[in-house]
Amino acid sequence: MTSSLMTVAYLGATILVILSLGGLSNPETARRGNLSGVIGMTIAVLATVLGPRVAAAGISWIVGGMVAGAAIGLWAARAVKMTQMPELVAIMHSLVGLAACLVGFASYVDTSIAFSGAEKTIHEVEIYVGIFIGAVTFSGSVIAFGKLSGRIGGRPLLLPARHWLNLAGLLATLWFGRQFLAAPTIEAGLLPLLVMTAIALLFGIHLVMAIGGADMPVVVSMLNSYSGWAAAATGFMLSNDLLIVTGALVGSSGAILSYIMCRAMNRNFISVIAGGFGTGGGAPAAKAGEQPAGEVSPISAAETAELLREAKSVIIVPGYGMAVAQAQHTVFEITKHLREKGVNVRFGIHPVAGRMPGHMNVLLAEAKVPYDIVLEMDEINEDFPDTDVAMVIGANDIVNPAAQDDPSSPIAGMPVLEVWKAKTSIVMKRSMASGYAGVDNPLFYKDNNRMLFGDAKKMLDEVLVALMA
Ligand code: TAP
Repeated sequence: MTSSLMTVAYLGATILVILSLGGLSNPETARRGNLSGVIGMTIAVLATVLGPRVAAAGISWIVGGMVAGAAIGLWAARAVKMTQMPELVAIMHSLVGLAACLVGFASYVDTSIAFSGAEKTIHEVEIYVGIFIGAVTFSGSVIAFGKLSGRIGGRPLLLPARHWLNLAGLLATLWFGRQFLAAPTIEAGLLPLLVMTAIALLFGIHLVMAIGGADMPVVVSMLNSYSGWAAAATGFMLSNDLLIVTGALVGSSGAILSYIMCRAMNRNFISVIAGGFGTGGGAPAAKAGEQPAGEVSPISAAETAELLREAKSVIIVPGYGMAVAQAQHTVFEITKHLREKGVNVRFGIHPVAGRMPGHMNVLLAEAKVPYDIVLEMDEINEDFPDTDVAMVIGANDIVNPAAQDDPSSPIAGMPVLEVWKAKTSIVMKRSMASGYAGVDNPLFYKDNNRMLFGDAKKMLDEVLVALMA
């Protein structure tokens, strides 16, 4: 393939990737967006592999690597449960970071392209910055994977003088950068490069270890952004325009998403990055089997069906438990039945419900719930006082009034869905156990709240049978 044909292919791929991001911003166009992304990436890979910079002898290595990678990807997509997606995403980001580091070292020791003067300095700065971002992304993502999968505790690690440690690391990185650029030979430059890599790896570990469990969603999205910048840096090292553009798109969209999530959780972005927020204080949560911190009023599936049947307006608030129980299809059946009987049924979606951005929207779309009755938190929160029944399905933190009432709560200030303002709220969960943030939920003890204990799918099946009867 000639280089001008490759440029045209790259341009097409860039446009398709931009269309893909645009499509993914709305559930109705998400499928088309995904397809644009797949086609764009296929064109990009083909144009690169068949392009002038890859020697024919290297193609078999690339194909071998792609087959092995595709096999692992296929296995992961099938084996990993939807609720484990954030862990998978975190570990995938670590691979982008690792790739940026390896490409950086490879292009530094590669003498086939000779740089001199200002070009050499620019190339070395690209390598230094690329390896730095890559190493932070790599180690930070591995720690994020450990935290999300429960292999590492969610409590933030707050070293004394941690901000000074970070500052010292940054200054050392700059000093070794100077040594690196001044090195007369490749051999002499390797030492400062390796020392900086070690500092960057420790920096990534420290950055994520200092972040509490409740703020992990923001961190994953932030690492997503870093992985984009790492890819863009790799693009600079390899003089690959497509990698620069797609990396910058991922980097900036990840940064915007992190900012939106911070706003949704009422967190200051800089404070989250600096660490020390999230799990680690506040009221201890009631664990399964322990005495609850108040009186709760249980309700049966038949009584729930009765309340729903008599209601004029119902708001359903799904959370992580609906995903675990895979109850979305039964939720749809109940919604359909109630709507046919003239009940106004709508859904209230919290921006961080579940375990990844858009988690609930994906599940409800899969179950064919119409998009126009699925509303964002800000669109529906004012309607709870005029609602007869607020049905909370496997959600906990996102409906916790302590976020508004208790300034000492670890989730204080997080905007929540005000389900307790409905005439009756019904919470479906298996026990009195806490949610992701590990805090107790005063909603359960309110006079107008009822608890429907049991697996969400099983209980909703019973509610549906009772409704049909
Ligand atoms: P959570 O607060 O985690 O609560 C989920 C509840 O579901 C649990 O209390 C659990 O109680 C219940 N549950 C689990 N399995 C169930 C089943 N089979 N049937 C019925 N109930 C079940 O979830 P949420 O309200 O959706 O809030 C999300 C939390 O996750 C927030 O703290 C958020 O910051 C965090 N987070 C979000 C993301 C993103 S981006 N969405 C990513 C990572 C973390 P039982 O054990 O008693 O059943």
